[in-house]
Amino acid sequence: MNSKNNPQKNVLITGGTRGIGFEFTKQFLRMGFFVVTASRTPFTSPELQQLKDQYDNRLIIQNLDVSEEESRQKIFEKLIEKINHLDILINNAGIASGNEKFRYRFGELNQVDLCRSLLVNAVAPLLITEKFFPLLAKSTNPIVVNISSNSGSITKKRGNGSTGYGYSSSKAALNMFTKMLSFELKEDKIIVVSFHPGWVKTTMLYCENAPLEARDSVQGMISIIESLELKDSGKFLDWQGNELPW
Ligand SMILES: NC(=O)c1ccc[n+]([C@@H]2O[C@H](COP(=O)([O-])OP(=O)(O)OC[C@H]3O[C@@H](n4cnc5c(N)ncnc54)[C@H](OP(=O)(O)O)[C@@H]3O)[C@@H](O)[C@H]2O)c1
Repeated sequence: MNSKNNPQKNVLITGGTRGIGFEFTKQFLRMGFFVVTASRTPFTSPELQQLKDQYDNRLIIQNLDVSEEESRQKIFEKLIEKINHLDILINNAGIASGNEKFRYRFGELNQVDLCRSLLVNAVAPLLITEKFFPLLAKSTNPIVVNISSNSGSITKKRGNGSTGYGYSSSKAALNMFTKMLSFELKEDKIIVVSFHPGWVKTTMLYCENAPLEARDSVQGMISIIESLELKDSGKFLDWQGNELPW
């Protein structure tokens, strides 16, 4: 077991199979971290399997559906056998709409679809943070990173665009959870921030032709994560470190 006396740094990345999450997995491994990466279908990614071959003793690949309490509990129980502190939690798993294929427009809004976006993108990261609190509290410099979006900024909203009611409101809710957790966890010296990663080319709906490479976005976010101090807790930042309006 990787203990607190050991300088080994541990990170958990939700949605680490593809896109931004996969890039976090890769870059933290290169930096020497002990990485746990998790999603609903983690064993379908040949790229992730290649990383496993390369970094076997520092990479755990785990099944996780962030929206299921049983699944969240299972990964927690599995991890307490492997690590006794968690330095960084990256709440990255997210969906562009409830059905992950298209967004319903006003006039045909769908309750199940809207609730699914809110559950996966906002409620789940809050509950995962709560679940992993005991391990975060044992780190000497714990950080929770919520991967949000500028679509969740109420101040910056200029029109409905294509980001959808479910997606935008879920990221606004996630931002509120970031702010509230920053107060809740202050005494425990746990830093909590929201990040807008930029518009990044990934497998997410509407992101196939985005201008920013995941490598560059994640490199930017990691360099900011490394420099975070307690006074930064509760901030909403972009991948270049600029503070964004709520
Ligand atoms: N790309 C952009 O331009 C952009 C902009 C702003 C914000 N973001 C945010 O960045 C984060 C990552 O997005 P991305 O662009 O990298 O998307 P992506 O390529 O679609 O990857 C999403 C990841 O989340 C996982 N996931 C989805 N639902 C899950 C669930 N219920 N439980 C566990 N894992 C789940 C997926 O794996 P499985 O399918 O195997 O579960 C996948 O690994 C999201 O929170 C997104 O909102 C992205």
